Amino acid sequence: MEEIERVALEEIEKAQTPEELREIEVRYLGKKGKITEQLKGLGALEPEKRRERGMALNRAKQVITEALERQSKRIVELQALREARIDPTLPGIRPQVGHIHPLSLVLEEVMDIFHRLGYYVMDFYEVETEYYNFEALNIPKDHPARDLQDTFYLEDGFLLRTHTSAGQTRAMRLLPPPFRAVFPGKVFRFEATDASHEHTFHQLEGLMIDRHVSVAHLLSAMMTLLTAIFGKDVGVRLRPGYFPFVEPGFELDIHCSVCEGRGCSVCKHSGFVEFLGCGLVHPNVIRAGGLDPREWEGWAFGIGLSRLVMMRYKVSDIRWLLSGDLRFVRQF
Ligand code: PHE
Repeated sequence: MEEIERVALEEIEKAQTPEELREIEVRYLGKKGKITEQLKGLGALEPEKRRERGMALNRAKQVITEALERQSKRIVELQALREARIDPTLPGIRPQVGHIHPLSLVLEEVMDIFHRLGYYVMDFYEVETEYYNFEALNIPKDHPARDLQDTFYLEDGFLLRTHTSAGQTRAMRLLPPPFRAVFPGKVFRFEATDASHEHTFHQLEGLMIDRHVSVAHLLSAMMTLLTAIFGKDVGVRLRPGYFPFVEPGFELDIHCSVCEGRGCSVCKHSGFVEFLGCGLVHPNVIRAGGLDPREWEGWAFGIGLSRLVMMRYKVSDIRWLLSGDLRFVRQF
């Protein structure tokens, strides 16, 4: 009896899994188990012996049952410990790191520059009225820019702004002069797309309103801006340009850095790309902004932000910018 109990306890202690324990339990306490068989055999014994042996067997049965329970608990605990252990040699789970779109990168950098130069940063509407996009900017009804070919017209006199200049008179109505402000954003043109044209692109408008503003002020501001943005000398080309909302008006081109001036589809083989339009704010626009043009003057510029991104990162096709193609964004 004692021998059976001793062996059983030893086996139980060695058991590593619930399955092994179960097997031991069956072997001793199951229907045909060693203890059970012995209990069955009690009937054949003398009453005196039967009592003695019965007690011993029941005791053994209890001891084995308790041992089984104890070991079962231990196994569960050990298993939990094993699972909780940190294995530093396992390969880690690489976090998915996002990428900042180059337009956002450049925009943030440029915003920072203007902020330091004392400009307000503003945000206007992508859906505009004909009034703010054209009328208030001294753009006559028969101007080709108003053409259905160039503008996405919406219902009820609304349209998708064709330039950030639409914010000029809004800014004048919001800010007490004198002030300097920039307002970046998406603009939309209804036109065929190619490597240098996209129906949706980004511009950044700048507007300064003060007393006694001259072309010298404008040009000096443009120089400051170029130096701050490029941090080095870039080849520029200034030419007179016509925009109904400025007088005089200029167009400033920069050296094409995609091809280093050799000529490519982005600069249409001219070596230069249009970078910004600028000029002194037309008196009619000052008036539309609710100010008296005899007292207030100003200058404005509109930077092709998409172009700037393309020059900065040598992106050879503007359509990549809003393609949503992760292969493009993952490079930044
Ligand atoms: N709005 C003009 C464009 O879309 C750029 C511009 C802005 C020109 C401000 C002059 C002054 O090209």
